[in-house]
Amino acid sequence: MTIAFITGITGQDGSYLTELLLAQGYEVHGAVRRTSSLDRSRLAHLYADPTLYNHRLFLHYADLDDPTTLRRVLTKVAPREVYHLAGQSHVGLSFEIPETTCEFTAMGTLRLLEILRDLPEPPRFFHATSSEIFGRPLEVPQTETTPIAPVNPYGCAKAFATQMVRVYREAHGLFAVNGILYNHESPRRGENFVTRKICRAAAAIKAGHQSKLPLGDTSARRDWGHARDYVRGMWLSLRHDTPDDYIFATGQLHSVQDVLENAFAALDLDWHKYVETDPHLLRPAEPMQLVGNADKARTTLGWLPQTSFTDLIHEMTRAEFQVLADTSIN
Ligand code: GDD
Repeated sequence: MTIAFITGITGQDGSYLTELLLAQGYEVHGAVRRTSSLDRSRLAHLYADPTLYNHRLFLHYADLDDPTTLRRVLTKVAPREVYHLAGQSHVGLSFEIPETTCEFTAMGTLRLLEILRDLPEPPRFFHATSSEIFGRPLEVPQTETTPIAPVNPYGCAKAFATQMVRVYREAHGLFAVNGILYNHESPRRGENFVTRKICRAAAAIKAGHQSKLPLGDTSARRDWGHARDYVRGMWLSLRHDTPDDYIFATGQLHSVQDVLENAFAALDLDWHKYVETDPHLLRPAEPMQLVGNADKARTTLGWLPQTSFTDLIHEMTRAEFQVLADTSIN
């Protein structure tokens, strides 16, 4: 049985990746942070399955700012594959907490690479990096060779980590892969990311629980796909014979306004009546034209995104509405 280790296992991507790896017959280990809240809701359905939890799914207390523990756990688990998904992932917040962002996202990745380099049999390593490394790129769409030019602390931290992965691949011979991930969403997305915030608000407005939706820049455009598709790309990239960098993207740009239109229309609502601009939600700098060319992942790994933008937003909105309906019944 192949053993995998995941940092960020309790997040959106971690939960979908865990489902995929378990379905592929893996034994899955995940690092969890010790906090006073035990919110592992995205894993709850796997956690509650007695045939999986502590049989093929294991959680370990370990964190990126505690390399001694991380080293101990990784030595004991001896994984064949490591998926590094953890980090401070909110771009807007990275302007408020740049040092924490760099500590976890940049230095945390370097610490992990150092630990892996020392293991008797270094595992294959996947690093979830971001389109934010390109910032305001000269090329549209971007490819794996587009120059790195981040415009926010999060993008800078990811740029450092991405380049370090390349250094460890080339200088130390690690099987280390950068997945350059464009925005990917799902009903499990964190509530402070714009797609989930909008879909949640549409459902709450429909149910009469909310009357206004404050937003930042609604003209901002992103390349949005479904998280389930992107974790498949992560897995495929570690199964390939050689390590490399891959863009995972849909190649299509949509605006925040497109998200609003699709989410509100799914519930027969007119978004214009509810949305208001909150200047606090405008970012000091916005990246431009972040849209990816995933040809290399398609031709080398056979990866293709399967979910359209409209289907994604409809699935998210319906999921939010269902949660409210279930809550009102109980
Ligand atoms: N979060 C948020 N909240 N974003 C808003 C809002 C709001 O109220 N109003 C407008 N936006 C705009 C943001 O300014 C940005 O242009 C866009 O919506 C998307 O914001 P997010 O959903 O927060 O995602 P992101 O693009 O900044 O970052 C996500 O994608 C990256 C990959 O490109 C994160 O998942 C990153 O971790 C990831 O690397």
